Amino acid sequence: MTISSLTRRQALLGGATLIGLGATFLPRIARAESPAVLPPLPYADNALEPVISANTIGFHYGKHHRAYVDNLAKLIEGTDFVNQTLEDVVRTTQVNPNRTAIYNNAAQSWNHSFYWNSMRPGGGGAPSGSLAERIAADFKDIDGFRKEFTTAALGQFGSGWAWLIEDKEKKLRVMRTPNADTPMAQGIKCLLTIDVWEHAYYLDYQNRRPDYVAAWLDKLVNWDFAAKNLGA
Ligand SMILES: [Fe+2]
Repeated sequence: MTISSLTRRQALLGGATLIGLGATFLPRIARAESPAVLPPLPYADNALEPVISANTIGFHYGKHHRAYVDNLAKLIEGTDFVNQTLEDVVRTTQVNPNRTAIYNNAAQSWNHSFYWNSMRPGGGGAPSGSLAERIAADFKDIDGFRKEFTTAALGQFGSGWAWLIEDKEKKLRVMRTPNADTPMAQGIKCLLTIDVWEHAYYLDYQNRRPDYVAAWLDKLVNWDFAAKNLGA
């Protein structure tokens, strides 16, 4: 690579030190973007109504998710974390008690992006194809999955998440995690998640978390996303 082949941004970031750092410089400029990025919602903010209102999405995505991303950007400014993927930031900070703030904001950034994609307008119902076969094999049937997922979502005391995951023995399982914790940090393959922090449902359902979880499974859950994550 020559200096003339660098983009203007890359040149501004590192052109002055290119000669001195040589080859070790190149991988650092090859990474396209910071891990602290707010991805666009995959649908309009009113697309999940009436199950989740535009008002809830406005606060949840526009305020809460954005705050996690903005906090992460401030926390990692000037550190090597800016050159890592968001997944790598989560994995490397979750075992380090000195990096709890970075872990919490990075994990919440990742969890929320995963959550938005775990829903779709006109979702719900049951999966098809090989994902349906895997659900039948590991939960008996879709109702068996639904019962376990609901128990996890309602049984999470306080804030957290319920998940459909594929464990390391290739078995589909339901998990729940408190606060910002995410199975992804442990290298577990995540298929779906529901956010059960109160900010996800309180404006629409107040304290009725069971109604939110039931409506989410009936009308929003995105089985296509789960199938894609499974590779099914
Ligand atoms: Fe949330």
